[in-house]
Amino acid sequence: MEKISVTGGKRLHGSITVGGMKNAALPILLGTILVGDKCVIENLPEISDIKAALDILSALGAKVKMIDRTTVEIDTAGVRPGTTPYELARSMRASYYVVGAELGRFGTSRAACPGGCDFGVRPIDQHIKGFEALGAKVEVVDGCINCVAPEGLTGSSIYMDIVSVGATINIMLAAVMAKGMTVIDNAAKEPHIVDVANFLNTCGADISGAGTDVIKIRGVEELHGVTYAIIPDMIEAGTFMMAAAATGSDLVIENVIPKHLESITAKLEEMGVEIEDYGDAVRVKAVTEPLRRINVKTMPYPGYPTDMNPQICVLLCLAQGTSILTEGVWDTRFKYVEELTRMGAVITVDGRKAVIEGGKPLKPAAVKCSDLRAGAAMVIAALATEGETVIDNIYHIERGYEHLVEKLRGVGADIKKIYVPEGSNTQRVI
Ligand code: EPZ
Repeated sequence: MEKISVTGGKRLHGSITVGGMKNAALPILLGTILVGDKCVIENLPEISDIKAALDILSALGAKVKMIDRTTVEIDTAGVRPGTTPYELARSMRASYYVVGAELGRFGTSRAACPGGCDFGVRPIDQHIKGFEALGAKVEVVDGCINCVAPEGLTGSSIYMDIVSVGATINIMLAAVMAKGMTVIDNAAKEPHIVDVANFLNTCGADISGAGTDVIKIRGVEELHGVTYAIIPDMIEAGTFMMAAAATGSDLVIENVIPKHLESITAKLEEMGVEIEDYGDAVRVKAVTEPLRRINVKTMPYPGYPTDMNPQICVLLCLAQGTSILTEGVWDTRFKYVEELTRMGAVITVDGRKAVIEGGKPLKPAAVKCSDLRAGAAMVIAALATEGETVIDNIYHIERGYEHLVEKLRGVGADIKKIYVPEGSNTQRVI
């Protein structure tokens, strides 16, 4: 079994570089299905979810060629709809973008319902509502989504009952080549929505309003191939900011868009952390010891992101006093609390609210990742704790953080990936 071992209590220093944004790269890669031509996508993160998305594209008939570690050439001319292998579709949430893209290009799609991190029920009713409004007939049978639009898709006005990143992107993908105008009202506004719209517009689409809550998509006849670079990952950047704050460090985080980090910066400043904006980098200096307690509520962008919930919880454990962390997006995002409790954290969860009694020293323990961002939180907690913490189920981390161990080691962390044979006490560094 592969695990991560961290001997914490050391300050981080120097600079660390952020990769491309996972949650923009996945819909852009799968969005190339719409293009039916050659695209070159740059600044991809080197993570297992990207590999899975490229495997899906290959299975659908695309020609996929890595140019270098972070650049891929994809030719989707030969793609045929409806053949996403079940196991790949189930391996991640973003596989549902195949449905919007196939429906948009071919007027038909059949895919397994998506997998991904377990936050309780993760419905797709808003995706289906959007596809149906565009004229598709949608059925969910035996864990598969079947969509068909025999007459093609026609633009429509769609009001989203809930702000959903995935549904906004999926409807955008389906509507790009629909007849006439589609209006998505109460759309999600995350930077990755804007990145997907910019990619599609570069390919010849006509999308306006991405980044606001009303997106207008005028259908075009066809798209063409392009070269496009993915934006930096704000959640990876935010995770490093939290790691710096948790360890009392002074760290420069490079390749970021500071505007995307505003809510994270605001919360860290409230806790007494200094953040300097260098244009395409931020410097994080932990100057207040101990950190100040605060209350946090996660919400859709531009609010404080749900994907930064577990990471800030670690800081609240280290802060002096009682903090309240409220989850405003997912029903079950606090599974990781049990693991932090093993390290000595004092946290009471009531539904979507966690009350954190800070200032109790954390101690090393054997912990596991319950999902991707929870895994990042375990690493931050371990970095801030004297002694060796061993983290299990690290495949969650590898789905979304590129070279996390190497990047943190580069700024002075004592962290390594180890292999521990099942039922054994021995370990080998890998
Ligand atoms: C995306 O998931 C991200 N995943 C998630 O990041 C992130 O937590 C989430 O957006 C919110 O920011 C990807 O981009 C691959 P939603 P998504 O649709 O699109 C409800 C990570 O760690 N909802 O915005 O699936 C839903 O239950 C991952 O990188 C419906 O009710 O999230 C939730 O409460 C984890 N009906 C809320 O909306 C629907 O049809 C927001 O979900 C769709 C969603």
